[in-house]
Amino acid sequence: MTATPAGDTTVKATNVVWHQHAVNREDRARQRGHRSAILWFTGLSGSGKSTLANAVNAELFQHGLAAYVLDGDNIRHGLCKDLGFSDADREENIRRIGEVARLFLDAGVIVLTAFVSPFRSDRDRARSLVADGDFVEIHCAASLSVCEERDPKGLYAKARAGAIKDFTGISSPYEEPESPELRLNTGEQDLASCVASVLDHLRAKGILPAAD
Ligand code: ADX
Repeated sequence: MTATPAGDTTVKATNVVWHQHAVNREDRARQRGHRSAILWFTGLSGSGKSTLANAVNAELFQHGLAAYVLDGDNIRHGLCKDLGFSDADREENIRRIGEVARLFLDAGVIVLTAFVSPFRSDRDRARSLVADGDFVEIHCAASLSVCEERDPKGLYAKARAGAIKDFTGISSPYEEPESPELRLNTGEQDLASCVASVLDHLRAKGILPAAD
């Protein structure tokens, strides 16, 4: 990474030059004994993204790996509290999360992001910030009917009643990933087997050490 990219019209800070730090990602990976990665969970509200990300995180923690969950409902209380659910606000939400995830990756942490992230272009942009293999897109593919049936926060009922506008799956689109690294039927598969599928993938990719 060098100075601010030429031609990027969104850049307001001029005269800012990228500082190369003395300790880099490879140093951290060596010290920690594992690679970092971005596990990008995407899916409808109620599809189980946060539940699965938290369960995987707990397993990684058990194995002594450095991992951290960034979750839409929580991040929207702080870093992204100025953003709503218009297309433009969602784009900015996911842009910020992509950048934060990149920092975690550099910090040597396995970062698990649990955001609806409904637009393919926004997810692809987050993917494009990092090298091939560092971004693992996990589609939590519970169907709309299952999510609506679960309705853990009562939001689908409100959206159907017209009390929430731009609600994903009801009045705002969800663009399914075309070729995610993993697609899990979080509507039917139980949590333990979804966690196992993620961990198997991480082992196959050399992010987690092979099973003892
Ligand atoms: S994203 O589209 O920008 O990725 P994000 O994951 O941060 O969304 O936030 C989604 C969460 O906000 C949902 O799980 C739900 O609890 C809540 N929410 C509130 N309003 C909406 C809405 N209009 N569409 C989707 N989720 C909403």
